[in-house]
Amino acid sequence: MTFFWSSWVTLFSFACWLFIVGVLFFVLKYKPTLKDDGTTGHTYDGIQEYDKPLPKWWVVIFIGSIIWGAVYWVFFPAMFPASWGGAATVTVDGEEVPWTSKNELYSDLEKNNEVFTKSFENGILVKADAAGAVGTLNELDKLQTTLRRDDNPPANLQDQINAKVAELDPYVAKLSQNQEALKVGSRLFLQNCAVCHGSNAKGAPGYPNLTDNDWLYGGEPKNILTTLHNGRVGGMAAWRDQLGEDGVRAVAEYVLSMSGNQNNYQLDQTKVAQGERIFHEPTNCVLCHGPEGKGMISAGAPNLTDKIWLYGGDRETIRETLRYGRAGVMPEWQTKLGNERIMLLAAYVYSLSDKKAVPAAPVATTQPANDAEAQTDTAATTETVTS
Ligand code: HEC
Ligand code: HEC
Repeated sequence: MTFFWSSWVTLFSFACWLFIVGVLFFVLKYKPTLKDDGTTGHTYDGIQEYDKPLPKWWVVIFIGSIIWGAVYWVFFPAMFPASWGGAATVTVDGEEVPWTSKNELYSDLEKNNEVFTKSFENGILVKADAAGAVGTLNELDKLQTTLRRDDNPPANLQDQINAKVAELDPYVAKLSQNQEALKVGSRLFLQNCAVCHGSNAKGAPGYPNLTDNDWLYGGEPKNILTTLHNGRVGGMAAWRDQLGEDGVRAVAEYVLSMSGNQNNYQLDQTKVAQGERIFHEPTNCVLCHGPEGKGMISAGAPNLTDKIWLYGGDRETIRETLRYGRAGVMPEWQTKLGNERIMLLAAYVYSLSDKKAVPAAPVATTQPANDAEAQTDTAATTETVTS
């Protein structure tokens, strides 16, 4: 709240409080002059007014609430909250902090979390034969607390945290074999991830399909964990200023020629050759997509030679990608969900991926099993092209 509004509320509530105290004093002190018959002489519609003392229980409650109001000001940040934080405290992150509604919420969330963590450690991890993760989780928690609390954390702290996260890899693999863990994981997925990746995790344009074996950032449990902990930002710059519209069209034609969609188009071979030269200039596309266009996990750059597309593999969408660039954002979940829930989600995502399919890189040797799925991708793309 701004200083103006907090002062306004403070002064207004204090004025009301003073007024009520004033009314009480007045009523207790005021002695009207009474007539001989004991009435005040006031008559309303034939009803005469007596001067009877206020009922004791009422006065007690009234005084009690006045005192309660004053005590409230001392305990809670009601009077000029900018300078008086109140005497009441709650425990957040192991520290006593002044009461605010936000801190109280954090404190409640922490208590819920503790209950969840206990049942995760003593229930799910034990049943999935992954109890060894508890030690790593505790060490991870310590590092994360340092990162949150310390004003000058060690420079390599984030690297240490990432390394610890990766150590959870074998336990996530074990969780992905456990039905109970997957059930909780799938529920968490519906609550947090389905808005973008779809309730069946098959994605949408711009939001990757998590059930295939084509990964921007790698599909091992440790890659998925890192993606979930820190989030990801896919960065591909716009190329129109540098290449011009002709250059964009040429290189798009070359991308089409190496993609799984090449048979759906009559390609302009002059443009393909021109695009190939642009693609292979050392500071251009090869830098991230590699000399064969098969992508690079360290850059999050997709494989351009398969039939799986993040944004779309039809001619116009590829041109659009090149003209304006793309920057898909996967949010971070560490601060929102915590380490335990992320493990369950990673296990669930890992269990969805089609590990029988060939990894994206050796594309020429696609197995029939993978082809069947890829074929449906092509069918969908062809549809958008012809419509
Ligand atoms: C706001 C939308 C959004 C939400 C919510 C979201 N994601 Fe993502 N996610 C993305 C985008 C966009 C990408 C691709 C990032 C890129 O283009 O580089 C992505 C990428 C990923 C990847 C990497 C895929 C790969 O090929 O390497 C995984 C795994 C993933 N998300 C899992 C999840 C899980 C699990 C959740 C729920 C906790 C979730 N996402 C919630 C948008 C979202
Ligand atoms: C700095 C690294 C980088 C360079 C250089 C780069 N790209 Fe990309 N490219 C990416 C990334 C990262 C993505 C994924 C963007 C996202 O996740 O939102 C991408 C996405 C794409 C896509 C979309 C693929 C799909 O599945 O929809 C195409 C097509 C593409 N790039 C082609 C090119 C071409 C052609 C060039 C050269 C003119 C190029 N890229 C240069 C990093 C790069």
